[in-house]
Amino acid sequence: MPSLHTIVGIDIGTSKVVVTVAEPNPTGVPRVVGAGMARTRGMRAGAIVSFDEVAQAVAAAVSQAETTSGRQITSAWVTFSGNHVACENASGGTTLTNHPHEIHEILDPDIQKALAAARPSPAEIGREVVLVVPRTFTVDGVSGITDPIGITGHRLDAQTHVVTASTSQIHNLVRAVPQTIDVRELVTQGLASGESVATPDERGLGCVVIDIGAGTTDISVFIEGAIWHTAVLPFGGQNCTNDIAYVLRTPVAEAEALKVNHAHAIPAEADGEPSIEVSLHNRSRDTVSARYVSEIVSARIVDIFERVREELGRSGLSGALSAGAILTGGTSTLPGIETLAETVLAMPARVGIPGAANNLGESFRSPAFAAAVGVVAYGCRVELATAPVPARSSTVGGLLDAVRRLFLGSGQADTRSVTR
Ligand SMILES: Nc1ncnc2c1ncn2[C@@H]1O[C@H](COP(=O)(O)OP(=O)(O)OP(=O)(O)O)[C@@H](O)[C@H]1O
Ligand SMILES: [Mg+2]
Repeated sequence: MPSLHTIVGIDIGTSKVVVTVAEPNPTGVPRVVGAGMARTRGMRAGAIVSFDEVAQAVAAAVSQAETTSGRQITSAWVTFSGNHVACENASGGTTLTNHPHEIHEILDPDIQKALAAARPSPAEIGREVVLVVPRTFTVDGVSGITDPIGITGHRLDAQTHVVTASTSQIHNLVRAVPQTIDVRELVTQGLASGESVATPDERGLGCVVIDIGAGTTDISVFIEGAIWHTAVLPFGGQNCTNDIAYVLRTPVAEAEALKVNHAHAIPAEADGEPSIEVSLHNRSRDTVSARYVSEIVSARIVDIFERVREELGRSGLSGALSAGAILTGGTSTLPGIETLAETVLAMPARVGIPGAANNLGESFRSPAFAAAVGVVAYGCRVELATAPVPARSSTVGGLLDAVRRLFLGSGQADTRSVTR
């Protein structure tokens, strides 16, 4: 059996960098063996605005994760976000044999060739393809194949989900990771969050994962177990905080505390709470009702959900989301947010907490860690799926093949190391 070494995820969010060190068990389920976290002010809406601050936060989180895990970190799966992120669904294929009577059994190199053909280069200057995820395969016209390995045919086509991004933003992000760490793959925060909070059933039925963090709202749509749409809105919890600070004329720290401790997504639910004393910029004090704070926050969350609804409309996939919406990210801890989502999006909604299905530590069981947990889980799954498979005849090879098939179905990245 190939050795499944330590897998590391680095989630670079707007408010924090989280490094997660995991060891997958033989079926690819991660066991977190250490983690590190550092706050950052160097990001705005998923984009680096102060390189040194972000690089320092990544280095600090890496160093903490090395200490807590007792492992040296030499490679990592890294998340990216920002409203420069765009996606398209593509397809392309390869001829397996030109001889009508010849039988060709599909192997990994054939899959790689088909995936390469289904990887369009972006037309716009300054953009690049960052991630290519297989959705499904077609062999000689038979569609909906999740794992074509071992199937025989004359032609193999791959249907992929292709994510493109601004070359300079991606370049800066990769440079913010210490030089000693090989960036194994860049993964969208939405895909990572979906990995940790949406169940295979939900991804199979069709669902949208909405990660509302501090500076971005990452939208990812899963259909038939694979990712079909990716989008990022440059809004999140920081906008709620800034709105409170602006309307009430309070310092940002005070506005943040008001939001976290008193806001409710359904303002009427905050009726009856005692008035809250707040300090204003001019050092005087005033009182405000929890209902008023909730109204400010709720208006911003409604605006975010309306933009999500528009994005889903543009994607043409609104009608395919039988399992509804899974809300995650730190802002989804706002009480009542599911009810508001159900009203605006007109679909069932729940809050997704990572770790419930995995054997992850208690400290990760917060929606704020969805992408951090998801990126390492995704890394474990893809590493397992792409690990060299021993000879087919051996029992171990057979077992690995079976496990491999299980995981290929829900989307395996086209893996390569990212060049700096
Ligand atoms: N109880 C709460 N109610 C409302 N918002 C909250 C609550 N707790 C945390 N938040 C908000 O969650 C946000 C942080 O979320 P998260 O940690 O997911 O962001 P991030 O990953 O750093 O950023 P992003 O993913 O947007 O780049 C902050 O804006 C914070 O105020
Ligand atoms: Mg985040």
